[in-house]
Parts: sequence; structure tokens; C-alpha cells
Amino acid sequence: MDTMNDRRRTAVLIVIAALAWNYLGKEKSSSIRIATAVDYDPCCEFPCQNQGVCMSYADKSYSCDCTNTGYYGVNCTSATVMTAVINAVKPDPEYLHTILTTDLWIWKVINNIPFIHDAAMKYIFLSRGDQVDSPVRFESDHPYTTLDAYFNETYFARTLPPVPTHCPTPMGVAGKKELPDLDMLIQKVFVRRQFLPEPHDTNLLFQYYAQHFTHQFFRTNYTKGPQFTKGNGGVDVSNIYGLTERQRRALRSNVDGKLKFQIINGEHFPPYLKDVPGISMEYPPHLPITEDNKFALGHPFFALLPGLFVYSTIWMREHNRVCEVLKEQHPHWDDERLYHTAKLIITGEVIKITIEDYVQHLSQYKVDLKFKPQVVHGTRFQFHNRINVEFDHLYHWHPLIPEGIKVEDSYYSLMDMAFSTKSVFTHGLDAFVKALVTNRAGKLTSRNHSPVTVPVLKKMLENSRILRFQGVNQYRKKFNMRPFRDFLDLTGDEELARDMEEMYGDINAVEYYVGLIAEKDSPSLTPLTMVNVGGPWSVKGLIANPICSPHWWKPSTFGGEIGFDIVNTASIEKLFCNNMVSKCQDITFKVPPGTL
Ligand SMILES: *[C@@H]1O[C@H](CO)[C@@H](O)[C@H](O)[C@H]1NC(C)=O
Ligand SMILES: *[C@@H]1O[C@H](CO)[C@@H](O)[C@H](O)[C@H]1NC(C)=O
Ligand SMILES: *[C@@H]1O[C@H](CO)[C@@H](O)[C@H](O)[C@H]1NC(C)=O
Repeated sequence: MDTMNDRRRTAVLIVIAALAWNYLGKEKSSSIRIATAVDYDPCCEFPCQNQGVCMSYADKSYSCDCTNTGYYGVNCTSATVMTAVINAVKPDPEYLHTILTTDLWIWKVINNIPFIHDAAMKYIFLSRGDQVDSPVRFESDHPYTTLDAYFNETYFARTLPPVPTHCPTPMGVAGKKELPDLDMLIQKVFVRRQFLPEPHDTNLLFQYYAQHFTHQFFRTNYTKGPQFTKGNGGVDVSNIYGLTERQRRALRSNVDGKLKFQIINGEHFPPYLKDVPGISMEYPPHLPITEDNKFALGHPFFALLPGLFVYSTIWMREHNRVCEVLKEQHPHWDDERLYHTAKLIITGEVIKITIEDYVQHLSQYKVDLKFKPQVVHGTRFQFHNRINVEFDHLYHWHPLIPEGIKVEDSYYSLMDMAFSTKSVFTHGLDAFVKALVTNRAGKLTSRNHSPVTVPVLKKMLENSRILRFQGVNQYRKKFNMRPFRDFLDLTGDEELARDMEEMYGDINAVEYYVGLIAEKDSPSLTPLTMVNVGGPWSVKGLIANPICSPHWWKPSTFGGEIGFDIVNTASIEKLFCNNMVSKCQDITFKVPPGTL
């Protein structure tokens, strides 16, 4: 009898404790109206912390809405008990990054014990996914939540809303009345003095992967404005197959699911533009490019740089190869089914390679990143994604581009290469791939931007001003990093700190992209803020893909076990080896040891 009563008492205590925990976890509803003595909109000061939402009133008072932030108080600065406990055990992002990028025995354990590794991947996917608003709340035309942000998909999403137009300075209240002159800023912070090579031996195969992959979803519609996109919300492989149904139809051969191709020097290449009505490519009108040098590709820009053309060719060959594998399994399938199933397999391969080869190298994490969508099934993870315009800006990685590239015994400057795929045919695709592997990329940092790409940079910075991006410190806070204290804390370089302080006056006025690039080095390929801001958007975009969701992620979606296996064993090396005449030759994102 006694033990029975004891058990009951314990059960009651546990329930009371759980209820108390739940109660303490709720922030007390605050929204206290605070009078101010300022003559501008007090929300321009961004007084609400921890993602509280500021609302101002006609009499220049304001309140912070702390609902669901885990904080309460006038400026949402007091942590609830539960938040305080979580904060006490949560590692600091800078420390965590150091741990993740250091060779420690713990990574060997985690990488080799499957159930622990699954738990690690689950933690990475969920913690990164949690940092992205899903569904989206903001677009670029309003500094508050609108329904259009969600339903009008011609808008890029926006992670932080724009600085209101009526604020005292372009950054709210911080800094000078005007932002630094762009030409001066570019000269002082961005332009390359001498080529700085990427310290992790990153090669041009990586640089072109980044460009080829991201152009499927970074598709600003400049006709409409820098806040609008022509693209979809993620990895839709439109860079391979085309964005519109008209383009996709035009590129299909209508036989066995395959894409159109032609044979040049005994190898398969994409068809000539003249042979594919329905495709338009962005060949600059002033250049004398003959019809035998114009190709029809899934992306209008990809014939303008030989590295992008190489990737387009390889993916076209891979699609056709996968169609043959499927046809052998399912001889009765029609062209339509072979095409669509192959496309699903290609999507899976793209995501697998992006996570396991590309992001692994980019992050320099010592934990093996694995494409295992099943670890988030049944969790709070949302299978929905939109592209943030801040992600597009973050991904301007032109410092990776060197001044030229050596292919066999020839040297091509950036301008020799631009607008032409000729060098690929002069040397042959395999020799060109070898050059991409053995040429070094530049370091992603300040003062390493080739003068040739400055116009692209300038346009992007202009757009970030038109779109009224908040400062880099606001993004640091949004992604749970402490704001930079001063310019030296940002740059770690006294001369650069001095130059930037002169231009901006206040660390809280430093622009988003400028801060991302000017930050001191980290163990990854990019500085830390770029990893910790871009990481969540990237993970979310990859794992929120429909193929990763519970009812899609199964062999039948990919035409059976063989197709599923192609996805689950894909790698950058296999992708090239299966589609080059000379087969395998050290295909990685690193310059092989011994290469000068
Ligand atoms: C709230 O933020 C405002 C603006 O930054 C500041 O002036 C004020 O002192 C803060 N109030 C409290 C209670 O922290
Ligand atoms: C989306 O918003 C823009 C700007 O307000 C507008 O021009 C466009 O018509 C909207 N599109 C749709 C589909 O509602
Ligand atoms: C880009 O914007 C223009 C102007 O609003 C519109 O006519 C066009 O359809 C858009 N392009 C795409 C591909 O969405």
C-alpha cells in the first residue's frame, strides 16, 4: 500500500513540476508602452532584442512584442527560466565553430557510430532549420509582416525587414547621414592588391560548382526590381533543365527520357542554339560569336563561362546515363516517365553532392556531413523553403575567382575566358576539367576582388542600399551571434579597421555584405558570420526539398532500388568519372598535393 501511495505522490509531483516548467517557460505578456523623448520613430533604434517585434505609436512611444521569443521585459531582454537554462548549456557559436573545425577524437567516434552520427546530423539539420522563418514573414517593400511575403512568390523572401525610410540614418540611427561612397568603399575594402590564394587548397572546380548550383535559385528579375525573383524556392534543378515548361520541352529529345545532345569530336555535348527553337541564351549582342559556338542550355547565362559550360555538359550526360539505367530496369516505361524519374534522381544527386562534397569542404567541419533526410522525419522540421534576398547577396563569392587560368600549356586571363566556350574545345573537355581541378581559387576575404568583376559587386551593393538592408550586426544578432564591438573586433586588421571606421563612423552602421567580407578569417572557407548566416539558409534549402519529405524519400520515387542507390552513392568524383572519356583522375574540390 505504501509503495502505491509513494508512486502516486511522485506522479503528482512530476505533473506539478512539468506544469511549473511550462509556466516558467512562457514569457509574461509584455507589450509595455514606453514613452521616449526622441523626435523620430523610436523603432529606428531597433530597441527590441532577441527577435522581439517593435511597434511605435503616434506619440513616439513604442512597445516590444516578445511573444514566443523566450524573453520578456521592456526590450525583450529578460530570459524566461527555460531560456536561461538553455542559454547556460548552449555553446557559444564561435567556440562551437572552433570545435567543429578542429581534429578531435570525438569526431572519429561520432563519424563511426551510426546512431550517434544520426543524432549529430539531426541536431545540425534541426538547429540550422530552426533559425529560418518558415513560413516567411517579410519581403523587401514593407518594414513589417505582410501576407504578400508568403503568397506573392515573385518576391524574394527577406529574413530581416528593411530599415524604415523615415529613419534618421540609412541604418536606423547608427552612423552617418549617408553611407560611404561606393567607389571609395570598393577601392578600400574590396579590390585585390595581389592575388590571395584560398588557404584550404580550394580549386576552380569548387568555384564553378558554387556558381552553377546557386544560379538555379538566385534569379533576380532585374526588369521588375532587385526584390523580385524569376525562380522558385530552392533546388529545382532548373539550371540543368530550364526554368519554364517551354524551355524544358525544347531541351528534351522525346526519346527514352533523354535530353538533346550532339556529338563533337566523338563526345556528347549540348545542342547548338540554332537547333533548339524555344531557348534563348544571353549572348551579348556586340560579340562576334558564330552560330557554331552558341549552345542551348538550361540556364541562359551558362554558355558565357567555360567552367559553367563544363558543368552543364556533365549534368546533361549524367541525366542521359541515368535514363539508360532506368530504361534497362523498366523497358516498358515511356519517354515521359523516364525523363521525370531521371530528373528526381538528378535532384537527389545534386543535394547529396552539395552536402557531402561541397558544404563539407566549404565548412571544413570535421564531422562527416551526410545526406540523411530520414533523421528529421517526424520532427518539427518544415518541408517548405523560400529564397532570401540576403542569401543571394551573401553568395557573391567573386573573390574566389583568380585573374586567369592555366589549361595545359596555355594561360587565359579572365577576359580571354569570358563569353566563350572555345577553350573547352581547344583542349578537350577532360583536359579542361583537369585544369579546373589544378588551378587555385582565391581567398574569400576583403581586398581580394578582381577588378574585372567590380561592376557586379557595385551593382549588388547598390541594390542592398535600394532594399535598405539592416546592418551586419543586426544579422549577427538574428543568427545568435554577439554583435561586433568595434571595427578591430570585426576585421582583426588595424589598417582595414581604421579605413572602415573613417567611412562608417559606427560599427552598427556597417553594411551587411561589407561586414561579411571584411570579417577576420575563420577556419572555414568564409569568415564566421558568413558560415553562421548562410548555413541555416543552405541547410534549410537542401533538406526542405520535397524529395526529402517522408512520403517522397523512398525507392519507388526514384524508379526503385537502383535509382535510389544512384542518389545514395552520388559524389562529385563519380559524377565526373561516369561522364568523362578518360574516366577518373583525382576529382575533388582541392588542388592535389604537389601541384604548383
Ligand atoms: C530599451 O531600449 C532603449 C533603446 O535602445 C533604451 O534606451 C532603454 O534604456 C532600454 N530599456 C531597458 C529597460 O532596457
Ligand atoms: C507581387 O507584388 C508585386 C509588387 O507589389 C506586384 O507588382 C505583382 O503583381 C504581385 N504579383 C502577384 C502574383 O500578386
Ligand atoms: C520579370 O518581370 C517582368 C516585369 O514585371 C515580367 O514581365 C516578366 O514576366 C518577369 N520574368 C519572369 C521570368 O518571371
